[in-house]
Amino acid sequence: MTTYRIAPSILSADFSRLGEEVRNVVAAGADMIHFDVMDNHYVPNLTIGPLVCEAIRPHVQVPIDVHLMVKPVDRIIPDFAKAGANIISFHPEGSEHIDRSLQLIRDHGCLAGLVLNPATPLQVLEHVMDKLDLILLMSVNPGFGGQSFIPHTLKKIAAVRKMIDDSDRNIMLQVDGGVKVDNIAEIAAAGADTFVAGSAIFGKPDYKAIIDSMRGELMK
Ligand code: DX5
Ligand code: ZN
Repeated sequence: MTTYRIAPSILSADFSRLGEEVRNVVAAGADMIHFDVMDNHYVPNLTIGPLVCEAIRPHVQVPIDVHLMVKPVDRIIPDFAKAGANIISFHPEGSEHIDRSLQLIRDHGCLAGLVLNPATPLQVLEHVMDKLDLILLMSVNPGFGGQSFIPHTLKKIAAVRKMIDDSDRNIMLQVDGGVKVDNIAEIAAAGADTFVAGSAIFGKPDYKAIIDSMRGELMK
């Protein structure tokens, strides 16, 4: 049986009350906290860094899942590991040597992930499957919360599901962007097991109701 994980993205949280927000969303049933790092260089937006990761770390027991939308990635990886990150993922375009960056993440005691934009081909995964703990497929172009799910991503999810199954490795398949209660079942059916959701959860009055509805859809 598949283990499904829901990873609320704090990009849509109220940053003036971030500690309370992450505590509330974990109490509501979040399996991990998705932490979006944007550098105004690789993506046209600027968010949060290791200091904020360190600040929220004592507030939650669940893994902190850091999604690096930065270029270059290598020099910030050790800082996030020290700040308490558990999973660190990056986009191949942000790394000079993908294999080396993945190893750097593992050397710092974290799980390592690679992130593919909607238009990034799957071949980049082929020779690094043994270094991956997570593959993140973007279902929107990275940079902003609140965008609509790009439907052709479903085929890509299915293709990566097959790559993971064929590899016989234990690799999480995460999807990020436009995930809602009304499309999560379809995304799971395509093969995803880990779901990032920002605007669908934060900004809504009852986080538990939304997370419960998402789990309900996954059990159907
Ligand atoms: C977008 C970020 C996402 C974003 C998702 O670049 O990587 O994690 O927060 O937000 P929603 O769920 O609102 O599409
Ligand atoms: Zn993200």
